[in-house]
Amino acid sequence: MKVGDSPVFRRFWYVAMPEAKLAEGPQPFSLLGEEMVLWRDAEGRFSALKDECPHRSARLSLGEVLGTTIRCPYHGWEFDAGGTCALIPQRPGVTPPASAAVKRYFAQARYGYVWVALEEPLMDIPRLPEAEDPSFRLIHCFHEPWDMSLFRLADNFFDLAHVAFVHRDTQGDITKPVPPPEEVEEFDFGIVSRSVVPVANREVGKGYTNIQADETVRHRIATWWAPCTRKLHITFPNGIQHVIFTAGTPLADKRILFTQFCLRNDTEEQVPAAKAIAHDRKVTLEDKHILESTRADVPIMPWETPEAGMPADRANNLMRKKLRQIVETYGPPIARAAE
Ligand code: FES
Ligand SMILES: [Fe+2]
Repeated sequence: MKVGDSPVFRRFWYVAMPEAKLAEGPQPFSLLGEEMVLWRDAEGRFSALKDECPHRSARLSLGEVLGTTIRCPYHGWEFDAGGTCALIPQRPGVTPPASAAVKRYFAQARYGYVWVALEEPLMDIPRLPEAEDPSFRLIHCFHEPWDMSLFRLADNFFDLAHVAFVHRDTQGDITKPVPPPEEVEEFDFGIVSRSVVPVANREVGKGYTNIQADETVRHRIATWWAPCTRKLHITFPNGIQHVIFTAGTPLADKRILFTQFCLRNDTEEQVPAAKAIAHDRKVTLEDKHILESTRADVPIMPWETPEAGMPADRANNLMRKKLRQIVETYGPPIARAAE
């Protein structure tokens, strides 16, 4: 299944762009092929509207924000944050008809990003207690397009078996390919996996763990929320907590936005943010290199031929089962690609 095969994936929040970008004016954004304009009104409301004026189809993202409305660049019609047409300047004193409204999507800001959903979201944006805890600092790391399926990134979040191979130059050790045991639990829209993972601590690792030994362990609690959001809470033996938050945004079936930031309970003097970013940059590029080679479709539905497996794929398999249940419960039946 590809992410565009089921409309249910329109009902989740996805990161669109840094909140600060909207200070420059209305911005175009495309999610699962739908073109929208993102903007923020003078009262601080975030809005996502179809990027096409209902009058003569000009792009509203070329327009401008005027207080609580966005003005179309072509004939000056104005729309509020909910998409209602507030003014047709050529008809002063006349209330615009409902037919002049523009389609609206869902938009809100969280963790420094604007998030959007195409239809009524099934769940809220995941809450991160560390983001409200003053003993943690938030370090923005990456926000960039990757050429892969959203589901392949989700798979990778819970894949302990790839570390020895893909991350052999950072935290992995290719002579130790058997992953540690993990405890996996499920909840409504996600799963949690707990494990203690021995890792190599090479130079780039020493820079962000503040541990000088060549090996260490990560106490790891990974939480996945459908379809592609993950919190990876790592605690090192010296008490440093490195909490990685990653969100995938489906731009198309084989193109995503990869967004990642981390929260740490140490200080800039102990570990400079640049070192934490340098470590996670190397690791994420190792993943990207492999993931961009994988297929756009992932067997999730019962009629799709499963991929070959091994016991270490258990968390991945549970994730695919949750995705299947979400499609079956909340989405109308989808076309059976194989038939
Ligand atoms: S096209 Fe937008 S006001 Fe005419
Ligand atoms: Fe990885």
